Amino acid sequence: MGNQADRAWSYSNPVQVVFGENAFASLTDKIAGRPYCLVTYSDAAIFAQLEESLAKTAGPAAVVIRNVEPNPSYPALDAACRLFGEAPVSPAVIVALGGGSVMDTAKVLATAGDDFSRVQDYVEGRRGFDVLRHLPIIAVPTTAGTGSEVTSWATVWDTENKKKYSLARPNLYPESAIIDPRLMLGVPRGLTVSTGLDALSHALESIWNVNSNPVSTNHAVFAAREVIECLPRLSRDLDNVVLRSRMARASLFAGLAFSNTKTALAHSLSYHLTLHHGIVHGIACSFSLPAVMRSVIGRSADCDAALSRIFGSDLEASVDRLAATLTQLGVSTRATDYGLAHEEWLNVIDEALLGERGRNFIGTRDAVVAAVA
Ligand SMILES: NC(=O)c1ccc[n+]([C@@H]2O[C@H](COP(=O)([O-])OP(=O)(O)OC[C@H]3O[C@@H](n4cnc5c(N)ncnc54)[C@H](O)[C@@H]3O)[C@@H](O)[C@H]2O)c1
Ligand SMILES: [Fe+2]
Repeated sequence: MGNQADRAWSYSNPVQVVFGENAFASLTDKIAGRPYCLVTYSDAAIFAQLEESLAKTAGPAAVVIRNVEPNPSYPALDAACRLFGEAPVSPAVIVALGGGSVMDTAKVLATAGDDFSRVQDYVEGRRGFDVLRHLPIIAVPTTAGTGSEVTSWATVWDTENKKKYSLARPNLYPESAIIDPRLMLGVPRGLTVSTGLDALSHALESIWNVNSNPVSTNHAVFAAREVIECLPRLSRDLDNVVLRSRMARASLFAGLAFSNTKTALAHSLSYHLTLHHGIVHGIACSFSLPAVMRSVIGRSADCDAALSRIFGSDLEASVDRLAATLTQLGVSTRATDYGLAHEEWLNVIDEALLGERGRNFIGTRDAVVAAVA
């Protein structure tokens, strides 16, 4: 593999980031008097409280979409688009207040407007981007996290046909990201762990990636070190706002890293686990990280150097350290524990390596198969 230092590369990310405790207060200024659509959840009290507090300073939303479900599916997105179309005043900006599912739903609304078929036809390859709409998004993540606040794509789930699509457009980068760690204080332990591991996966996947560059790798090394240091501590001390803040920052940096590289094999493997075995995204994309890392050691000097900045120079021992971190967090690293027999797992690996994200991976099939044996 060529060295990063020898290759031409570029990096860009246009999202304006506001970060800090009480950053939420800057949302009204960012809305700047525009009629807005609020996209959020209804299953925890914090969302209604934040909606009310926002209405006091920015005025009520033109329309509120509250029923976002984890992993937004076609029927849920269709319903959200219809509701969007019923707004008495057309929204000029979409405020996404929630985790990855809310931010990804906002990206679909920004692109589909009142008619979900625009996005469905586009992701399924029946129509071009000329049918798509465009509205700006202000992303306010409440998990740490998916990094969707600084990426230009959304994951769309056709659960009925067991398919996952990526809606990717350069204009889907949010206009602003407002990251307030206080909004994450109430995230329960399981969700804290799964979303934190999603961020770790984004960081590592941007390193063992054909699209890596020195900026993405530097962001990723910082993010991965922070997750490994903070997440086990945070999982035992959920009210610790300093640790919440460090995880929110790590998730942002992982997002900035993979916003330019996209993900790789561990994510490609995860889609089967989520669609066929109901495994939550953050676990599905992280349980295989030790095996994927074992398979890629020695493949590229840049990748080895980045991994040793995270885990130390003995990379073989580092794989065990990564596996121990997952085990300590209650996450099994064995595919059989997620309902996959060995044969199925090998088929999933073959399919995942051929998938769009799998082709970003710098490793080889043989090494992956040897690593999971
Ligand atoms: N676009 C991207 O770049 C990108 C990257 C990674 C993942 N994703 C997608 O993001 C989705 C996963 O997002 P997620 O892991 O953030 O979870 P989520 O958005 O699916 O939310 C899961 C649950 O968490 C609850 N929740 C969120 N914030 C909370 C808070 N502060 N307090 C209490 N409860 C809270 C919600 O009410 C919801 O029930 C998946 O669909 C995945 O495909 C997208
Ligand atoms: Fe992810």
